[in-house]
Formats: sequence, C-alpha cells, structure tokens
Amino acid sequence: MFKSLAGVTYRVPDLQKAKDWYGQFFDQPAVLDSPFVVIFRAGDSTLNLAPAAGPAPGGEERVVAYWNVEDIDAAYRRLLDAGAASESEIATTVLRTKVARVTDPFGNSLGLMSRASEVKQNKSLEEQPSDSAMAVALSRALAAGDAREEIRGPDYLAETFLSADARRSLKDAAAREWVRKKIEAEAPGSYEYFIARTGYVDGVVRKALEQDTPQIVFLGAGYDSRSYRFRDLIRGTRIFELDIEPTQQRKRRALQQAGIAIPPQLTFVSINFTRDRLGDALEASGYDSWKKTLFVWEGVMYYLPAEAVDRTLESVRSNSPAGSVMCFDYLAAAPDMADRYGVRESRAIMRAMYRSEQVQFSIPEGGIEAFLSQRGFRLIDHLTPEAMEQRYLKLRDGSSAGKVLACFRLAQAAVA
Ligand SMILES: C[S@@+](CC[C@H](N)C(=O)[O-])C[C@H]1O[C@@H](n2cnc3c(N)ncnc32)[C@H](O)[C@@H]1O
Repeated sequence: MFKSLAGVTYRVPDLQKAKDWYGQFFDQPAVLDSPFVVIFRAGDSTLNLAPAAGPAPGGEERVVAYWNVEDIDAAYRRLLDAGAASESEIATTVLRTKVARVTDPFGNSLGLMSRASEVKQNKSLEEQPSDSAMAVALSRALAAGDAREEIRGPDYLAETFLSADARRSLKDAAAREWVRKKIEAEAPGSYEYFIARTGYVDGVVRKALEQDTPQIVFLGAGYDSRSYRFRDLIRGTRIFELDIEPTQQRKRRALQQAGIAIPPQLTFVSINFTRDRLGDALEASGYDSWKKTLFVWEGVMYYLPAEAVDRTLESVRSNSPAGSVMCFDYLAAAPDMADRYGVRESRAIMRAMYRSEQVQFSIPEGGIEAFLSQRGFRLIDHLTPEAMEQRYLKLRDGSSAGKVLACFRLAQAAVA
C-alpha cells in the first residue's frame, strides 16, 4: 500500500527563517512558496516546512512523514477501519496532489499522499467525494473572511467542510490572501461569481423559509450549509438534501465532528442523477408531490449529461404543483465565450482539478426562455454577470470589488 516516501513535513516557528536556511542548504529555490507551506524537492521526495501553531492534539508538534499511495481514498479508509484516527481529511493541495493525515493507535502521525500524476483519472463520484463541492466550500470559506465588509460572504459554516489542515491554514490572513490571489490568477472571476451566487441563492432560500414554503429540495447539495445556517428560520418546511453517497457521507461526518446538529426537518437522500430517477428517490423519502416546493440546483447542471438534465427537469415538473420554483445556475454557450472574462482559464482549471466532474452541459446564450418553456417551465428571474456585479459586488465607494466570470448565469423558473 505504501509505495515510497513522498515527503517529510517539519513544523517551524519562523517560516521565513527556515525557508532561507533550507534554501541555502539545498542551494535551490522552493518549488512552492506559500504562507502555509514551503516545499523543497529532495530527490524523489520533498522536504516541507509548515508554520508551527501550538502543539498538535495529544502532544508536541510532530514531524510528519508522507507516504506515496496509489489510491488515497482506499488507503485512508483502510487505516481508519484498522483503528487509526483522522487528523486531516483527504484534501487536494494547490499542487493538485491529494493528502490526508491519520494518527496510528500509538500516537504517531501518518501522512498519505497521491501525486497528481498518479491520482486515478477516471474515478467516479461513486468512489470519492466531489472535488467541485470542496472547491466551492473553500471559496465560500475565504469569502466569509473577506476584509471588504460590504461583500463579505455569509457562509460562516463553509470551513466546517474543509480538511483540518485547510481550516488551520485559513486562520492566517496572509495565507487566506495567498489562496485568494491564486484563485484569481487561475480562475479569474470565480471567487466573485461564488460571492454573487451565494448571495442570490441565500436570498431565495431565506424568502422561501420566511413564507413557510412546504418543501425545499437541494439537488446536488454538496457542502451547502443553508439547512444549518438558517436553522432558526425553518418552521414547518421539510428539507431534502440530495447528493451522491460519498459526498453526503463526508458532509455528515464533518457536521458530526463539528457538533452541528441535523435539524429534525431535514432528510438526506442519496442519488446519482445519471442513474436514478429523482421522482423515485424523493417519493421513497417522504417528499409530497402535491406540496409547493423550492428546488435549488446550484452548481450542478453543467456536470451532467444532457439526458440527465432533461430527466431531472421532467421529474421536477411532474412531481411538483404549478407555482413550485427552481433556482439554478447554468453555463451559457456562445461562439466567442472562450474569449470572455476568465472563461478560458476557468475551463482549463476545471478540467484539471475536477477529474470525475467534467463540464458537459450548457445552454445557448439568449436561449434560456425557450429551453425552459420546451420543458414546462417559465423563466421568472435571470441574472447576467454584469447584473451580479451590480447587485453583489459593489463597494461603499461605488466601485466594483471585481468582475464575475463571464460564462455563468443565475436563474429562477416556475413550474408552468
Ligand atoms: C459544484 S458542487 C455544488 C454543491 C452545492 N450545490 C453548492 O453549491 O455548494 C456539485 C455537486 O453536484 C453533485 N453531483 C455531481 N454529479 C452528480 C450526480 N450524477 N448525481 C448526484 N450528484 C451529483 C456533486 O456531488 C457535488 O456535490
């Protein structure tokens, strides 16, 4: 299972000093120089420096050796099954490797790593939790700490779903800024888009709860935290969170570890949109097709094949009364889309990072009304990137906090 030593991490009280010392010693620059880890290549392995931030649970700050494993999901699970305790859940690093840490029954830290080149290319969402859900949770966690109060994100629970190492790193303002800049360079406008999307969907869900809408269904809920953040607004509304099993299990583990109780009105439903019928899954979990419902389909549609999109829309239409609403975002297609703000870069990064979630569905720009009406829906609200900037990214002095990635649109449609 352990193939070779991937690297060793030393905790240091002064990262800069340690970086200079090792840099001189190795006579080569670091391959990654960030406020939360500095990495030097050493033959086939790496020497990693990370800031010490007080003693680790159960003792002194420790040196951690990371072992290369072929399948990090399998290795991590096997170690936990054998009695090891999780120290930091599997996470994708900025170098696109996957890392995790556990403590063996004798108190030693064991690091696991899958090199980017070795991470199995076509692992499905049935085999590992969603990377895209983790990426948006990271963006929302960053936004919740944005120094610009006017646009600061509301999702104070997003960090609950990050790995322990990521949570620890994000406590440091310099590290947060470094990650934000990295996102800005690799996927311009995506951080801004997630701020707008969170604000928009928050508004829709909040209103539905205030109006005691009988049911809310989160399709592909990922690490959506609204069921917990809006706990006090939930009265008689029944809530359903749907996602594929490994992502849902990971979410429930994270909630449990953080001591966040599941509201009694909430039911988890496991589903694979490409295989299962939404109507069947809902019916089996106590959903009532006669009651008015808000469906939230945030950040999901574009990862599904066209047949699964159509099947899901048909299930929503035929399993909810007129006046039910679907709030969703979609990718707009146009011949010049790749040349618009952030699109080329974002496509490249999504392809590289979300190996099991490839973008495969879009709607022609300007064609949303026709698309919806052909499927029994009526468009009731629609936001372009410019409208999102106006509504969600204005700073106090009237300037915009940034531009929104050009390919995304936000919308609401009513069952006709
Ligand atoms: C980008 S995340 C969005 C998560 C959440 N809605 C949010 O906005 O934070 C995409 C989500 O869709 C889910 N998903 C993708 N393909 C799916 C499928 N075939 N069946 C069920 N869920 C799927 C993923 O597991 C993931 O949680």
